[in-house]
Amino acid sequence: MEIFNRFFDPGGAWEMLSRAGHILVGIAWIGLLYFFNFVQTPAFADMSAEGRSEAQRKITLRALWWFRYAALLTFLFGLSIIAVQGDETDDFFSGQRGTAILTGMLLGVTMFLNVWGVIWRAQRVIIGSAERVAQGGEADPQAAALAKPAARASRANTLFSIPMLFFMVFAPHGGGFWEEPIESTIIYWIFVLLIWAFIEASALGLIGGYDNPFNKQAFDDHRNTIIAGFLLLAVIYLIGWEVILQAA
Ligand code: HEM
Repeated sequence: MEIFNRFFDPGGAWEMLSRAGHILVGIAWIGLLYFFNFVQTPAFADMSAEGRSEAQRKITLRALWWFRYAALLTFLFGLSIIAVQGDETDDFFSGQRGTAILTGMLLGVTMFLNVWGVIWRAQRVIIGSAERVAQGGEADPQAAALAKPAARASRANTLFSIPMLFFMVFAPHGGGFWEEPIESTIIYWIFVLLIWAFIEASALGLIGGYDNPFNKQAFDDHRNTIIAGFLLLAVIYLIGWEVILQAA
């Protein structure tokens, strides 16, 4: 078969398998992210302390294993696609397709770092503490303070996931629509990076703390987070693509 003859060439079997793997683990990751945000968090708010502790130790801990390794594999398969595409990858800073992939990747890599650097680092302490209490020990004094940073990073990931997937999927499937060359993407990137940096820094508590007005508005209620995700998508698409890049 043709694809196996050119195993590691662009469009060959390795790229095909990497892409299939990327999507499979990608949906596992984002599916669990949505479970945590739309199902688990509201359910935990409704549960007794004992019920919540047991669910954390028996469900959340298992779900987090799949969640963080799915995130890692999504990231690695993504890099594998880029490695195989090599020269065939459109220039990330000149083609519309490259710009779309890079936009999705910026958000995806940020989400990946939030998973391992913030969410898991906090959750291992929180769940470890619940485990100690369940065995008759003392709660870890750090645990309570880590709940907010983890929750904010998780909501930021939910927000980012909406434009992330749009740009990632539309990169290879935009058709002729994306083919036009672009003179310069600098203004586009300044615009996107400013918004991205604000949202991420805010979620990390670096702008007026974890309870600043933006965080409370966008992250306290998951419904607002979904709306904010679509707003971010609309802003990047309508202003970034339709205005800034069209003028470039
Ligand atoms: C973690 C960071 C991520 C990186 C570095 C990354 C990288 C990539 C790359 C390089 C492509 C190929 C684009 C092209 O060839 O035109 C791609 C496509 C894609 N990615 Fe990601 N990705 C990431 C996260 C995600 C996540 C979380 C999902 C969630 C499901 C996802 C879903 C997809 C989909 C559906 C495609 C389109 C594949 C196609 O239809 O051909 N990616 N990604």
